[in-house]
Amino acid sequence: MASNGQTTKPPPNPSPLRSAKFFQANMRILVTGGAGFIGSHLVDRLMQNEKNEVIVADNYFTGSKDNLKQWIGHPRFELIRHDVTEPLLVEVDQIYHLACPASPIFYKYNPVKTIKTNVMGTLNMLGLAKRVGASIMMANRILLTSTSEVYGDPLVHPQTEDYWGNVNPIGVRSCYDEGKRVAETLMFDYHRQHGIEIRIARIFNTYGPRMNIDDGRVVSNFIAQAIRDEPLTVQLPGTQTRSFCYVSDMVDGLIRLMEGNDTGPINIGNPGEFTMLELAENVKEVSFKLAHFRLFPISASPIFSLFYQI
Ligand SMILES: NC(=O)c1ccc[n+]([C@@H]2O[C@H](COP(=O)([O-])OP(=O)(O)OC[C@H]3O[C@@H](n4cnc5c(N)ncnc54)[C@H](O)[C@@H]3O)[C@@H](O)[C@H]2O)c1
Repeated sequence: MASNGQTTKPPPNPSPLRSAKFFQANMRILVTGGAGFIGSHLVDRLMQNEKNEVIVADNYFTGSKDNLKQWIGHPRFELIRHDVTEPLLVEVDQIYHLACPASPIFYKYNPVKTIKTNVMGTLNMLGLAKRVGASIMMANRILLTSTSEVYGDPLVHPQTEDYWGNVNPIGVRSCYDEGKRVAETLMFDYHRQHGIEIRIARIFNTYGPRMNIDDGRVVSNFIAQAIRDEPLTVQLPGTQTRSFCYVSDMVDGLIRLMEGNDTGPINIGNPGEFTMLELAENVKEVSFKLAHFRLFPISASPIFSLFYQI
């Protein structure tokens, strides 16, 4: 009975279709840079969950539609050609912000564009996170893929997240490492000032299928050289170490970070280290070729290199 004495009808039962799978609330997830190496593997994993709708925004600078071909036309998947230096308006619950060339060859190619991608791209994505969070009051989140390069030429080993780094602000790599540092700053400023839920992953070297073969990084270099029957070029002394994380482990780490309660920054990578000679040995072993190594001093041109046959 209503206050004016009239009987009110109870609200109608919701349509039975509401409980059907089609109407269940899905998580809509934006992946910037989703056509790239790590991004496309992340998309593969997110698409395995039937509750996820995935939108990829990419300008295809280093990524390719080919990496996503298995999802094109899928009802839970959308691909948008978009440059993150421009604002993007979409309704999403989570944002994985990966868009940025990761290999020195590509990020040094157009350094102004690289720093714009890092700074304006992150600002635009934070603006989007703020807008969707404020308008529909959802616990939306944004995750930034930062890099171990924010530590620069580190003076402490190993680098823990509380180390502030030793970075050259005016060098040729600064567009990337200083760009990522500003991106991290923006993430925390939006978190403190606007209450945006943020996650920051500092990614260490990652490898796996869909890496760009000519991206100049050591794993792809060795593999490309082995495929082309060229000597594997190892910088002297060859005992310098790096860690390499397989891409599916990286994707696990990113999703766990997004779903967990820690804002980060969190280092994600493989704690085990290899020497460059060990890596070259491994590539030689799996390539089943009579690959040989070529050792050369860091500053020397390969013309003066010392050939070393194993
Ligand atoms: N691969 C690694 O070892 C590594 C290490 C540290 C950090 N990261 C970070 O992880 C993320 C992904 O790296 P990746 O190895 O997959 O690189 P990638 O180059 O394969 O992928 C980057 C993607 O971003 C897209 N992109 C670049 N600029 C863009 C722009 N302005 N607008 C829209 N899209 C743009 C590219 O087309 C590409 O698809 C990057 O943020 C990178 O800094 C990677």
